[in-house]
Amino acid sequence: MSFDLVLFGGTGDLTWRKLMPALFQAFRHGKLPADGRILAVARDERSDDDYRAYIHERFAEVEADKRPNEEEFGNFAKLLHYRRMDLSKPEDYAGLKRWLDEPTAEEGRSNGRADSAVLFLATSPHLFPVICQQLGHAGLNGDHVRVVLEKPLGHDLASAKEINRAVSEAFSESQALRLDHYLGKPAVQNLMALRFGNALFEPLWRRESIASIQITLAERIGVGSRGDFYNRTGALRDMIQNHALQLLTMIAMEPPSTSDADAIRDEKLKVLRSLKPFTPESVARDVVRGQYKAGTMDGQPVAGYLDEVKVPAGSTCETFVALRTEVQNWRWAGVPFYLRTGKRLAARDAHIVVTFREVPHPIFPGTRQANKLVIKLQPEDGLELHLLAAKSGGGNEVLSPVSLDLDFDKAFPTERVGGYERLLMDALAGRLNLFVRSDEQEQAWRWVEPVLEAWAKDPTGPRNYAPGSWGPAAASALVARDGCTWAEEQ
Ligand code: BG6
Repeated sequence: MSFDLVLFGGTGDLTWRKLMPALFQAFRHGKLPADGRILAVARDERSDDDYRAYIHERFAEVEADKRPNEEEFGNFAKLLHYRRMDLSKPEDYAGLKRWLDEPTAEEGRSNGRADSAVLFLATSPHLFPVICQQLGHAGLNGDHVRVVLEKPLGHDLASAKEINRAVSEAFSESQALRLDHYLGKPAVQNLMALRFGNALFEPLWRRESIASIQITLAERIGVGSRGDFYNRTGALRDMIQNHALQLLTMIAMEPPSTSDADAIRDEKLKVLRSLKPFTPESVARDVVRGQYKAGTMDGQPVAGYLDEVKVPAGSTCETFVALRTEVQNWRWAGVPFYLRTGKRLAARDAHIVVTFREVPHPIFPGTRQANKLVIKLQPEDGLELHLLAAKSGGGNEVLSPVSLDLDFDKAFPTERVGGYERLLMDALAGRLNLFVRSDEQEQAWRWVEPVLEAWAKDPTGPRNYAPGSWGPAAASALVARDGCTWAEEQ
């Protein structure tokens, strides 16, 4: 299969930090279809060679194991091309169409149009509507074309709808790929495999056996140089509306009837529609927001959120959220789902904890502890099943916790594929399973909006927390109310 991949925003952060390293990994793993071209598009004038040199330099800033050596870069760079474009000018889109439809040997292809063209919008989202409109006018929306949109897809429901409307005027739903990079993480595919490839868990995967579910997406980093963007966004929009809710749908969805993208996405949408709606009262009770203050981490001083570059004085933007919700259907009625995310927390740690109910009638002495299944997303990726076993010695058996650990890096040492690499390869191949459909995305906005509205009216603002902690104490109180604790508190 031949392909053309066009990266709008070809000199931007997303391109050189995430997309180029992922494309290079795919190239290194031999996963990139052989007959391909990658075209970076941006505003300034550069030759192909200038662009290759620019990317070469940028690679010095990515993790060492993702960096090419000179020979590898030389081979990879042959795929790279560059084109200057003014995104508001129809003639520049016409030029792009010629580049795609009537390529020359000099432009990297001598055998006509590629089988598939993927247009990745790695630009600021406010440009998505104009780019899609221009692509449509230029006829750059044929059946072989797909457009990839990276978050943030809107700021609220109205702006998300506006983007979706502009996209849908030029592209069909199956041509529009909304990327949530968490869905590319190997643990997410393993979650699907665990639930729907094994008969063991499914009978237990319901309210009768499960007491609670926690999803934690914790980061050690602060907002860094993204203060301006972050302050308009906040943790609820940045991590909960998309990544955490997508994980929740994967945990809570009914078994789809097939592995088709729409069969899966229909089930995910049903979960989003079943989430308990927030009211001003439940926001006050069930949602904790926090903001990191100045302090130290690993003995080094770190700035508070309010001292970060481009964060306005007195900002009430949240850098931490913990919330409790429920999925209101027969399978999950009454089971608390806790979602938590934050910056400057104690660890970079993303995991899901499924806590099973305790035995109804304990007969053994020793620890009473519920079984737990921990799905680890990062830093490492694996599964832990926490059980109680008999620890013998001294005559009496007592129960003691043990865990069955599955480390996927060890189980499949050569086949681990990064999130963006996986999603880019899926986009080129037209596999839609791991992309978010517009109705899912809009429903997620519909669900978070009452929280944003309640916060806007609440003068108290976020609670402070110390960097290197697990957020405000109120987050522990939130789960303690149901008799639960967060993973690190056990
Ligand atoms: C992005 C957020 O979507 O995800 C960032 O905008 C966040 O604020 C990042 O740091 C976290 O991704 P990961 O894969 O490093 O957990």
